[in-house]
Amino acid sequence: MGSLSLVLILLSHACAVSASDSRLHNDNIFILAGQSNMAGRGGVINGTWDGIVPSECQPNPSILRLTAGLTWVEAREPLHADIDTNKTCGIGPGMAFANAVLRDPAFGIVGLVPCAVGATNISEWSRGTYLYTQLVRRAKASLQHGGKIRALLWYQGESDSKSPEYAKSYKGKLEKFILDLRTDLRSPMLPVIQVALASGGPFIKIVREAQLGVDLPNVTCVDAMGLPLEPDGIHLTTPAQVRLGKRLASAFLQTVPTPISNNTSKRWGA
Ligand SMILES: *[C@@H]1O[C@H](CO)[C@@H](O)[C@H](O)[C@H]1NC(C)=O
Ligand SMILES: *[C@@H]1O[C@H](CO)[C@@H](O)[C@H](O)[C@H]1NC(C)=O
Ligand SMILES: *[C@@H]1O[C@H](CO)[C@@H](O)[C@H](O)[C@H]1NC(C)=O
Ligand SMILES: *[C@@H]1O[C@H](CO)[C@@H](O)[C@H](O)[C@H]1NC(C)=O
Ligand SMILES: *[C@@H]1O[C@H](CO)[C@@H](O)[C@H](O)[C@H]1NC(C)=O
Ligand SMILES: *[C@@H]1O[C@H](CO)[C@@H](O)[C@H](O)[C@H]1NC(C)=O
Repeated sequence: MGSLSLVLILLSHACAVSASDSRLHNDNIFILAGQSNMAGRGGVINGTWDGIVPSECQPNPSILRLTAGLTWVEAREPLHADIDTNKTCGIGPGMAFANAVLRDPAFGIVGLVPCAVGATNISEWSRGTYLYTQLVRRAKASLQHGGKIRALLWYQGESDSKSPEYAKSYKGKLEKFILDLRTDLRSPMLPVIQVALASGGPFIKIVREAQLGVDLPNVTCVDAMGLPLEPDGIHLTTPAQVRLGKRLASAFLQTVPTPISNNTSKRWGA
C-alpha cells in the first residue's frame, strides 16, 4: 500500500492516524533536532505566539508529525508544541521544508519527527544523554510501520557559542554525535543537513566555522546568517523560518536526488 492510500486514509479519518495502524506507510521520514530555532520561535514575542501561519507552513494531508505519544497525526504548527514543552513554541523551519519538498508531487508522504528542545548544548545531545536517547527512540518508533529516514535536519549551537571552551570543542562533539547516531540508527550514510548559526554568543564565529567545516560524507550545511531575527536577537522570525525551510528543502533535494517513488523524470529545483 503506497502513499496515495495513506492520503485517502487521512482524508477519511480527519486528523489522527494511529501508529499501530499497519496501513500507515511513510515513505519519507525526517528527524528535526537541535535547540530553539529548530523547535521554532517564529512569531513568539514576550512568551506569546502570534498564531500567524504563513501559506508555506499550512497543513497538508501529505505531511504527518510523530507526536510525543508516538502516534502519527496530520502536522500543524507549532510542530514542537508537545516536545519542547517548557517553552512557548512558534514557527520553525519544518513545515516550510516539508511543503517545499512536496512541490514534487511524486515525492509521496512526508513524516516529520520533532525532537528539538530549546537552550540545549551539544553535550546534552551526546550518546547516552536523555535527549539523544529520546531522539533514537522516536526515530526508531517512526519506522515501526515502514518508510525510511531520509535525513536529519539539525539546527543547534547557540548555547555552545557562549564560551571559548565550549565553542572550541563543538566540532568534535558534533561529528561524534552524527557518527554515533548513524551507528545507532544503522544508517551509516544518513544524510544530515545542518544549519550554520544566524545568532548566538560572543564565540559564534568559532561554532559557525565548525559547522561549515564538518568533513563527513553526506553532511551539508545551510547558512542562516543574515536572516531576520525577532526583537530578542536570537530567534528567527516567521518569514526567516520560511526562507530557511525552503533552503533546507533545496539542499536536501540536491544531496539526495532520487525520491523513493523512483520517479526520476522530474526533480523539483532541477
Ligand atoms: C515585550 O516586553 C518588553 C519589555 O517588557 C516591552 O517593552 C515590549 O513592548 C513587549 N512587546 C510586546 C509585543 O508585547
Ligand atoms: C522541563 O523542565 C523540567 C524541570 O526543569 C525538566 O525536568 C524537563 O526535562 C524539561 N523538559 C523539556 C522538554 O525541556
Ligand atoms: C551543557 O548544559 C548542561 C545542562 O544545562 C550543563 O550542565 C553543562 O555544563 C553544559 N555543558 C556545556 C559544555 O555547555
Ligand atoms: C549519501 O546518501 C545517499 C542516500 O543514502 C547515498 O546514495 C549516497 O551514496 C551517499 N553519498 C555519500 C557521499 O556517501
Ligand atoms: C517504480 O514505481 C512504479 C509505480 O509505483 C512501480 O510499479 C515500479 O515497480 C517501480 N519500479 C522500481 C524499479 O522500483
Ligand atoms: C512521474 O513524474 C512525472 C512528472 O511530474 C509525471 O507526469 C508522472 O505521472 C510521474 N509518474 C509516476 C509513476 O508517478
